[in-house]
Amino acid sequence: MRSFIGRDILSLKEFERQEFMRVFQVGKELEPIARDRRNSNLLQHKTLVAAFYQPSTRTRLAHEAAMHRLCGHVVGFADPKMTRAGDFYQESIKDTVKMLEYYGDVIVMRHFQQGAPHEAAKWASIPVINGGDGWGEHPTQILTDLYTVLQEKGRIDGLNWLAVGDMRMRTMHSLGYALSQFACPITFVAPPDMGLTEEFKTELRQYSVDFSEAEHVEQAIAKADVILVEPVVQPDYTKSRDERGREVALTPANYRITRELLTTKAKPDAILLHSLPRMDEIPTDVDITRWSRYWQEAFSGVVVRMALLALVLGAME
Ligand code: CP
Repeated sequence: MRSFIGRDILSLKEFERQEFMRVFQVGKELEPIARDRRNSNLLQHKTLVAAFYQPSTRTRLAHEAAMHRLCGHVVGFADPKMTRAGDFYQESIKDTVKMLEYYGDVIVMRHFQQGAPHEAAKWASIPVINGGDGWGEHPTQILTDLYTVLQEKGRIDGLNWLAVGDMRMRTMHSLGYALSQFACPITFVAPPDMGLTEEFKTELRQYSVDFSEAEHVEQAIAKADVILVEPVVQPDYTKSRDERGREVALTPANYRITRELLTTKAKPDAILLHSLPRMDEIPTDVDITRWSRYWQEAFSGVVVRMALLALVLGAME
C-alpha cells in the first residue's frame, strides 16, 4: 500500500482497496475523540489552509472541525471574493497556491473548475485535498459515505446500491470509482439529460463496476441495501456561486425517495444516504424513519477528515 504521508487526495480513481480500509481503520481509532467531543493533540503543530472558491457548509466546516478536534490550526477563505483570486487581479491557482503553501501544512480546496485542485497540487509542496471540483470528483464525501455504510452495516462488500440523482455530479464520479474496489452491484437512476455519460460508463466497465440503469426508483429500490440520493434540481457546479431563482422545479417522482416508497418497497434494513444539501428529493418526514442515515454521515464526515488529515500529515502511518 502506498504511504499517505505527504500525499494529495484528489480522486478516488485508482484509490486501492487497502487504502480505503486504512482510512476507515484510522477513522475508527480516532472516532472516540469526536464522539466524546474531546480534543487530542495529534496535529497540534500543524495548520490546515482552507481554500474554498465555492460555497460549502459541510466540506469546509468538517475539515476545520476535524483539525480543531486534533488541536491543529486553521487559516483560509470561504469566499474567493475576499482574496485577489476573486477581484480585479483574478489571481491564478498557481500564484495563489505558491502563497498558501507557506501558510500551512495541508490545503483543502473546493473549486468550480474541474481539475483546479489537481492544478494546485502541481504547484504546492504540501498535500492538497480535493473538497469538490466542478463536476469532477468529491473524494472525501464518498469516503465519508463508505465509512458510514461500514459502521451501519458492518461491511461494504456484498451490498446492493441504488444511486439516484444527477449522474454528472462529482459525488457520483467518486462513488463509481470507489465501488470498483468492492463487490457492490449498483443501479443508477437519473433523468435522461443527467444520465451517466458514455465516457464514464466506459470507465466503469474498465474498472469492472457491476452497474445497471433504471428509469424509476420504484424499479430498483426493493433490492437496495444502500440508497444514495443526490438532487436533480440543483445549481450549476461549474459556477463559483449560483443563486436560486424565484421559481424552482419540483423533483419528479422517478427521483424522489418518500416515506411511502420506503415503507412499501424498501428493505427494512436498507440505509438512506444523502450528502446534502437537499431540495425535495427526500421529504423531511423521511428524517425520522429507520432508513435515514444522513445525520450519521455528518458525524462520519468529521471522523473521516480527521483520519485523512492525520494520515497525510504523518501523525498516523
Ligand atoms: N456534501 C457537501 O459537499 O456539502 P457542502 O456543499 O455543504 O460542503
